[in-house]
Amino acid sequence: MILETNNLTKMYGTKAACSNICLLVDGGQIFGFLGPNGAGKSTLVKMLVGLLFPTSGMANILGSPLGNLGTRAKIGYLPESFSYQEWLTGEELLSFHGSLYGMSRADRNKRIPLALRQVGLSGKEKQKVGSYSKGMHQRAGLACALLHDPDLIFLDEPTSALDPLGRREVREIMLELRESGKTIFLNSHLLSEVEMVCDRVAFINQGKIVASGTLAELAAQTVEVELQAEGLTQAALAELASRSSSLKTEGRLVRVTLKEREQIPAIAEAVVRNGGRLFSLNVVHNSLEDLFVDLMQSGDQ
Ligand SMILES: Nc1ncnc2c1ncn2[C@@H]1O[C@H](COP(=O)(O)OP(=O)(O)OP(=O)(O)O)[C@@H](O)[C@H]1O
Ligand SMILES: [Mg+2]
Repeated sequence: MILETNNLTKMYGTKAACSNICLLVDGGQIFGFLGPNGAGKSTLVKMLVGLLFPTSGMANILGSPLGNLGTRAKIGYLPESFSYQEWLTGEELLSFHGSLYGMSRADRNKRIPLALRQVGLSGKEKQKVGSYSKGMHQRAGLACALLHDPDLIFLDEPTSALDPLGRREVREIMLELRESGKTIFLNSHLLSEVEMVCDRVAFINQGKIVASGTLAELAAQTVEVELQAEGLTQAALAELASRSSSLKTEGRLVRVTLKEREQIPAIAEAVVRNGGRLFSLNVVHNSLEDLFVDLMQSGDQ
């Protein structure tokens, strides 16, 4: 495992920003870490990159416990919010970050043009960072995170300032990085984006992990079925409700959420046995967004 956390916890006073977080991230993956505002995503990443001390728990990164300096040199980090020295040019900014990483001048001269090209900032290296647009700023941050060719890269909302084309480019950068064997830990709100690039995901809500797995595993956790039926009695609806975790009706349409596919025949049978006439029954594709909303709502109860 490239990354393993064991009951990692961060308390702010009596509030747990992260509570007993246990995660496993395999090498060569894009791992998506999802959750609503204030769930604890950035707090976890800050503990992993060494910016915050955990209150309790442990983590192993690239084979060493938290805080190992050699490991830190192999980690790239794009913070959620940052502001750079406005008076530096893009090239100077990267050179400064390269020297903080301990890179030699020769190494910096070689890597800086590559990093600028990778994030689409070639040609802007002589321009002052203060004159960069929000999107260019975010690309410069990404170049800083990738400059020293790290093995594990933490990206905290890397596309928040980018337009749709910029977002696509960042997705492509992430896929190229994975192709070259790197591991990416991606904090994101953009569920469709996560769906497009991530191998595994974990959901966090109010500091706790509420679900994790591959996208297919998570999608299999709930099955949504849409029925078109007439003559549904109160008894039929009550039975459907008792067999499902949620039921919504709209005219002849009934939507039920089930825990597994195996329950589908029993739903059809319940309609017919209670005198209803079933015209159609369709399994609805559950997007990551549907699952996110389900998980967050069940966490509120
Ligand atoms: N320095 C701090 N002092 C006190 N509470 C904090 C501090 N930093 C974060 N918190 C609280 O910890 C919780 C988790 O915050 P965090 O920034 O990790 O959330 P997040 O999931 O990254 O949210 P967002 O999607 O808005 O970036 C929030 O309730 C936040 O208010
Ligand atoms: Mg955050």
